[in-house]
Amino acid sequence: MNIEEKTGFSTPFEWIGGEARVRALADRFYDLMDLEPGYAQLRAVHGSELHDARQKLFWFLCGWLGGPQHYTERFGHPRLKQRHLPFKVGLIERDQWLACMDQAMQEAAVPEDLRARLNKAFFQTADWMRNQAH
Ligand code: HEM
Repeated sequence: MNIEEKTGFSTPFEWIGGEARVRALADRFYDLMDLEPGYAQLRAVHGSELHDARQKLFWFLCGWLGGPQHYTERFGHPRLKQRHLPFKVGLIERDQWLACMDQAMQEAAVPEDLRARLNKAFFQTADWMRNQAH
């Protein structure tokens, strides 16, 4: 579907409101992961420090949404599945990641239609990244 025809924005990056809004989303995502008991298994896969992950998710999302390619400029192709091999990504982790991101999108005031589309796209990516059956 051509998002420009429907929304007037040429990319999801424009639609979300640019870098400041992507930063707010990545920050809220990792704050929630740290705070909410419902995301404890997801939190446990991460190290004690979330600073690098927070920064990298922000860079990645800018490019993934059709904005500046900060992540690939620094690290090359994302190869997300390969980069996640050291971490347990099973059904619980996948579902907590998706729920955490959905809550972050709500709290960061991502427009409703965009949030619905991104939830679908995140599901595809997160499910493909699973490296355990359970
Ligand atoms: C499905 C469950 C997921 C789990 C359990 C998970 C877990 C992790 C962990 C533990 C890290 C390392 C953090 C660090 O360096 O301190 C990481 C990095 C990262 N994750 Fe995920 N993740 C998941 C899904 C996703 C999804 C769906 C995306 C993108 C849409 C994503 C994007 C990233 C990026 C860009 C990095 C940084 C990679 C790097 O350059 O090191 N993750 N993730």
